[in-house]
Amino acid sequence: MNNFYITTAIDYVNGSPHLGHAYEKVLTDVIARIRRMMGDKVHFLTGVDEHGQKVQQTARKRGIPPQQFCDEISAEFRALLPKLNVANDDFIRTTEERHKRVVRDILQQLFDKGEIYKAEYQGYYSTRQEQFLQEKDRNPDGTWPELFGEVTEITESNYFFKLRSYQAWLVQFLTENENFVFPKFRQKQVLEFLKEPLNDLCISRPRERLEWGIPLPFDEDFVTYVWFDALTNYYSAVVDQPGVWPADWHVIGKDILVPPHAVYWTIMLKAAGLPLPKGIIAHGWWSFKGAKMSKSTGNVIEPGAFVAEYGTDALRYFFLREMSVGQDSDFTDLQFQARYNADLANNLGNLLNRTLNMTNRFAGGVVPAAGAAGEPEAELRALWEQTRAEVLKLWDGFQFHIALERTMAFVTATNAYVEKRAPWKLGKSIEASDRALLETSLATMAESLRLAAALLGPFIPGTVDKIHGALGRTPATDWTKECQWGGCLQGAKVAPSLVLFPRIQADDKAAVKS
Ligand code: MSP
Repeated sequence: MNNFYITTAIDYVNGSPHLGHAYEKVLTDVIARIRRMMGDKVHFLTGVDEHGQKVQQTARKRGIPPQQFCDEISAEFRALLPKLNVANDDFIRTTEERHKRVVRDILQQLFDKGEIYKAEYQGYYSTRQEQFLQEKDRNPDGTWPELFGEVTEITESNYFFKLRSYQAWLVQFLTENENFVFPKFRQKQVLEFLKEPLNDLCISRPRERLEWGIPLPFDEDFVTYVWFDALTNYYSAVVDQPGVWPADWHVIGKDILVPPHAVYWTIMLKAAGLPLPKGIIAHGWWSFKGAKMSKSTGNVIEPGAFVAEYGTDALRYFFLREMSVGQDSDFTDLQFQARYNADLANNLGNLLNRTLNMTNRFAGGVVPAAGAAGEPEAELRALWEQTRAEVLKLWDGFQFHIALERTMAFVTATNAYVEKRAPWKLGKSIEASDRALLETSLATMAESLRLAAALLGPFIPGTVDKIHGALGRTPATDWTKECQWGGCLQGAKVAPSLVLFPRIQADDKAAVKS
């Protein structure tokens, strides 16, 4: 069995989870589910990033110890996962002993090899970004960009990791592995970044300034820089599980590709003599109604409340249908409703309704055998074969938005087929040939619905379970078989009725807001 290891970024716990965090988990879950379905032995890791200045500061403001603060917020992040129907295999917290131990081991190992040295640093430091700044980071007018927050001039001794000595190796590695970062244009950005000489990475913070971190094993007066600590989670979580490392994909947002993942992490692994992940997927960012999501402006959707109102699968579907992986997207209530009503309620939901309704009305609730196929059946079947082949290719290239569009086009075609055959008319006829055609059309509707469900499973798993239930069946464990056209439902007893997605009325619009 092929091992497949996939991770998300680990979220900072200095605020509650928002839509952006939810998207990344769902995207990763979709890929994990696809691979599980294909027969891989999947390990799916997510978690939280708990150390660093921001957490220390926020906890202080709240007047509670940092560990207590982390416990509270981490619980919120963890509780969101089942609400999104995200089936992760593990959840890591960077304050866990299993993680701290590995961070310290790697640091010690790099120190012993001479990859880490102590030096005096004098310069500017941004607390908000927890990073040292250089002259080139200033605005043209000499001020510091707002994203750095308060900038102070400091002189201190610190430990540095020899990033620079690996620069040439990294450039060569990326040149030889041109699909290391998805999408490709992001890989170009990494190479662009590497045109400037790298500085060695300061991997420590003096304890008097920052207590909330992992002490360096070789000098307890310092704690580990939060990125060095956090990146190690991908490895520390599986260090005791043979055959899992290296990861297949790290799924992250575009903001943390360069330099943390593409530069620091790759070089940390190389220096530690560990295999590199097979690739990094850098997704885009969601804005909300055209603006950056921000708590201070109230421009934020709480994903838990949102799915409580519209359903987990409505959000999952929207995320994957709307965003092209790697590009940015905007979340608006109107667009959400439009997709929900058109694709889920009126197309997929309607097909299930009609199938149940007519099978009950004209066939005693039992899916009949399909008779000889006429032209409409042959056309639908040909469209299925084409859709299946296309969708598999699109999945491979992470083109999920187009894959869903194609899958829904097959559902639309099935609804059009129903209009053409008009079983409600055939059901009233007393001709034997009409009876045969009626049975064929009922069988074909149910079969097409079953097949569409096979391609929708990774995206809207809860809904697909309901569809299977309503069609009175358990899906085949062999997914290739599940995707084959051919009367699998004959004799199945269907449910009396089921509404998958109640239409959102225009009046409810006010309900979809921040
Ligand atoms: N803790 C670091 C990651 C360490 S990984 C070893 C971090 N945390 S974060 O909470 O700020 O972000 C977590 C993930 O959420 C990142 O991949 C980030 O890109 C993603 N998103 C945060 N806001 C987002 C949107 N508005 N839209 C989509 N994803 C967004 O960075």
